[in-house]
Amino acid sequence: PLNTKDLEKQVAAREAVKYIRDNDIVGLGTGSTAYYTIIEVAELVKNGLKIKGVPTSEHTASLATSLGIELLDMNAVEYIDVTIDGADEFDENLNLIKGGGGAHFREKIVASLTKKEIIIADAAKKVDQLGKFKVPVEIVPLALNYVVRAMAKLGGQGAVRMKDGKQFITDNHNLIVDADFGLIGDPAALSEKLNQIEGILAHGLFVNLAAMVIVGQGTEAVTYTK
Ligand code: A5P
Repeated sequence: PLNTKDLEKQVAAREAVKYIRDNDIVGLGTGSTAYYTIIEVAELVKNGLKIKGVPTSEHTASLATSLGIELLDMNAVEYIDVTIDGADEFDENLNLIKGGGGAHFREKIVASLTKKEIIIADAAKKVDQLGKFKVPVEIVPLALNYVVRAMAKLGGQGAVRMKDGKQFITDNHNLIVDADFGLIGDPAALSEKLNQIEGILAHGLFVNLAAMVIVGQGTEAVTYTK
């Protein structure tokens, strides 16, 4: 049996897949919450719906393939109908921090291609202000020290993400720095400033990309829209 948190993730995923229609191109998110969506999408495919998926990570691509979901490269699509993805934090304006799994670059491209970006989460991810979760920043390795200093000038304390005693390497062969900006008063302004720093491939602030956030609360799904 699933524990409460996983049940809530499943409840949110089951609500979110109701927005998928036959023949849709569906963006497939990354992480432990998005996992439940991929399971549900595989069910829809088994039931005969002609859905094609666009994965946001190598991990999601292999999971989806193993479950029989046909995949499209993001270069092969002009738009994506619906994407269902997780997040590390969201606020009432539906701004997000993503990238806890290091997949936010592809997640951001997929979100930008998407008509309806649905975020699913357990209730603990709702915050008054973003920033308790450090902002994941994907950096081209040769620019690491430059970017860390540039972010420090903006008030962000960065640390290179490690995994098993080694630097964490993304699907795109880059590094992640988790940057602590404290609580973020103006996510749009910080996002813009980070966008100006050369060497950052993508940062984990998602501003104005989510159309809705669906939260599992016990057995209920609660939907937040703007
Ligand atoms: C992947 O890089 C992230 O953006 C995930 O969407 C985010 O970290 C949420 O992951 P969980 O669903 O595992 O909490």
